[in-house]
Amino acid sequence: MKTDGQKGRISLKDLPSPRGHFLFGHLPEFRKHANKHQVLERWVAECGKLFRVHFAGIPLIISADPVINQQVLALRPEKFRRLSKMSAVIREMGVSGVFNTEGDTWKRHRVPVASALNVRKIRAFYPVLCAKTQQLLDKFGRYAAAGQVVSVQKEFMAYTVDITTSIAFGYEMDTIGARANTFQKHLETIFPMINARIAAPVPLWRFFKTRKDRELEAALKAIEKTIHQFIREAKDRLAADPALREHPTNLLERLLVEDEDNNFTDEEIYGNVFTMLLAGEDTTSNSISWAVYFLAQHPEMVRKVREEANAVYGEAVVPPDNQHLSQLTYTNAVAQETLRIKPTTPQLYMEAKEDVVIEDLFIAKNTRIILQNKVAQTAEAHFTNGEAFLPERWLKEKPAHLENHDPEMIKTFGGGPRFCPGKYLATNEIVLLLSALCKQFDLELAVDPQEVTEQFEFTMYPGNLLVRFTPV
Ligand code: HEM
Repeated sequence: MKTDGQKGRISLKDLPSPRGHFLFGHLPEFRKHANKHQVLERWVAECGKLFRVHFAGIPLIISADPVINQQVLALRPEKFRRLSKMSAVIREMGVSGVFNTEGDTWKRHRVPVASALNVRKIRAFYPVLCAKTQQLLDKFGRYAAAGQVVSVQKEFMAYTVDITTSIAFGYEMDTIGARANTFQKHLETIFPMINARIAAPVPLWRFFKTRKDRELEAALKAIEKTIHQFIREAKDRLAADPALREHPTNLLERLLVEDEDNNFTDEEIYGNVFTMLLAGEDTTSNSISWAVYFLAQHPEMVRKVREEANAVYGEAVVPPDNQHLSQLTYTNAVAQETLRIKPTTPQLYMEAKEDVVIEDLFIAKNTRIILQNKVAQTAEAHFTNGEAFLPERWLKEKPAHLENHDPEMIKTFGGGPRFCPGKYLATNEIVLLLSALCKQFDLELAVDPQEVTEQFEFTMYPGNLLVRFTPV
């Protein structure tokens, strides 16, 4: 990177651009499709890895260049920030937490959140992961006995909601067991609305409310009520057990304890609880769904996962502890390959806080830049046969023909100082559940593979994924 003040050889106006509307530019195309990631991919195919678009006169850089993308991520929080419009849309929903704050405020939020999710803390919560995995296996067993096909995405979301609420807030949600899952339904309302509002040229919802806006308001109210219940219960625990103040057992308790030094306002505590719920659920559950999508088409891979499970934890239903979990190298390879080929976060939205030059590209202050990370993750130059699902490429003894292998390209969890703090938890959830599922069941798609489609609603998930589970 060049230092500030130096001009790059190229700037936004020198970049190529896909064809767009003479007045509204590329906005109509972007707004028209909920699947924004596919619009971006089409443009990358048309213009290459660095180009510009404009949304009704507002210019944006789109970069699928891994070197530029890595630098943008690394230059936060000083030179780049998350897209201010995105942060504002989330703030308007009443949420102000680690994901959508900047500068010193972000630093203050990041410390307790990252600490609550660090390897040591997550390892200590392993029994929670096991209990939830067993509960879900029992439920799948009942589906199998009834010959029922499973809409897995919803089931995996219940799994991740229960784990996050237990680990981060000490609250037993039992979304897996609930019959009418209204809380989960409310959470599902949020992402599509964030996705739609980011691309809206005018914030019409401030002037009149559509049915969807009203549904969102109702969902936000219901979630607010539940979160306040988490907070009340955590306050009661702290009051009942003064020792907890010295050693808070989860994120919420820690935020509340620090609140006594006026570090975190009630609004900030609420914002971070909400952020964790949003950030940890769809991302992880959709990744598990994508893995199941591939496994259901590859019985030989299911057998390998099962053989590994039998060899590592024998008669047990789930790996008894973290050591056993970490021995599941093939299952972990399935998880890594899923995160590479179907990143649930295919692009990230950023904005320059000051003039910056990266790789000869001059990026002026306030320029919006979309980091398209998915294309590099499947490019032949970085991964041999990159469009194919080949978990063995992640094994220590990988086949010689898979010679291109560049893990640095993977940005599914972001990068730089703001990379995802939930990466370790998410990976554990994915590996644990996949291993336990394949140990007990054969998997089969209940629809044609072509009928399962990529859907983007702020995270990318497999639409119409229906799976049949048969006990082995
Ligand atoms: C497969 C699962 C997951 C994926 C793909 C994922 C992906 C991401 C990505 C791409 C970012 C933005 C990173 C950046 O800007 O560099 C992020 C941020 C974040 N994620 Fe995750 N995430 C996952 C699971 C989780 C879980 C389980 C949690 C917590 C329970 C979590 C909490 C967060 C938080 C709090 C942030 C904001 C970090 C900050 O701005 O400093 N994520 N995640």
